Amino acid sequence: MVENPYRLKASRIIRVIKECEGVYTFYIATEEEAQFGQYNMLYAFGRGEAPITIASKGEGYLVHTVRAVGDVTRYIDSLREGDLLYWRGPYGNRWSLEEAYGKTLLILSGGLGLAATRWVFEEAMKRPIKRLIHLYGSKDYDSLLYKYLYEEWSSKADLRAIIGTSHPQWKGKTGIITDLLRKLDIEKDSLVFICGPDPMVKACVSLLKEKGIEENRIYASLERHMKCSVGTCGHCMIGPYFVCKDGPIFRYDLIKEYFERKEV
Ligand SMILES: Cc1cc2nc3c(=O)[nH]c(=O)nc-3n(C[C@H](O)[C@H](O)[C@H](O)COP(=O)(O)OP(=O)(O)OC[C@H]3O[C@@H](n4cnc5c(N)ncnc54)[C@H](O)[C@@H]3O)c2cc1C
Ligand code: FES
Repeated sequence: MVENPYRLKASRIIRVIKECEGVYTFYIATEEEAQFGQYNMLYAFGRGEAPITIASKGEGYLVHTVRAVGDVTRYIDSLREGDLLYWRGPYGNRWSLEEAYGKTLLILSGGLGLAATRWVFEEAMKRPIKRLIHLYGSKDYDSLLYKYLYEEWSSKADLRAIIGTSHPQWKGKTGIITDLLRKLDIEKDSLVFICGPDPMVKACVSLLKEKGIEENRIYASLERHMKCSVGTCGHCMIGPYFVCKDGPIFRYDLIKEYFERKEV
């Protein structure tokens, strides 16, 4: 029998972390298999569903970070430890981490985009990557995600964060992610993973090209409005591709033509 792709699962929320105002991280108990880069559709009764990236995975749990922007995400952010979260998935493709073996892997994350790169970054620390660099830009200190993990991450990789405005508790740089990228020395055969707002992705790709990195070495995780998540409704299309099932991760040279159009 063909499995119903819309069948919901229910998982107990086992841990909730408040990242900042309106942004919460949920650990849900599940043995479900998943891959770094994929997403789940999180469900709110009577409200709808929202695609939310799988931010990390451990023994018996998946992690989601949710920013409350509308009906569904506001409902999910009201849930607490012990509550049930309804969801379906996982959907979408994964980061092609193996391509970076023996080379430099550069990860570029903007704002909430760090949720989509966190798991592959954690995995990359355990894999045979020659040099692992992660540049992360956030609009301000309060919006920085996963502050409680930076010390551990920095001991295993070259993590550089930058925030838009100064803050008494911030000893790092202020500015935007392209300020960090512009100054970075990087090999031409490096692999690059990006997730962030579209203008950030475009600006980063342009700088990477100036550094001699070709578009077929760059992968971007895209965010588009989704309904079905299984390639039937057409809400998520970019050119001939369904972001929900062909993506959300795309090699840049394959989507450039559609991504760089003004109306996209
Ligand atoms: C693959 C993928 C992964 C994602 N991962 C995360 C994640 O990890 N965490 C997270 O917090 N969010 C994530 N998102 C974004 C999240 O799914 C959206 O913000 C979702 O729309 C929220 O649903 P909502 O009902 O709460 O808000 P909505 O009612 O959908 O409104 C949210 C915002 O989107 C705007 N909007 C509504 N419809 C459209 C449309 N058709 N086109 C463009 N904009 C529209 C609204 O004006 C509003 O500002 C992801 C999206 C994708 C595609
Ligand atoms: S969300 Fe329906 S086709 Fe992609």
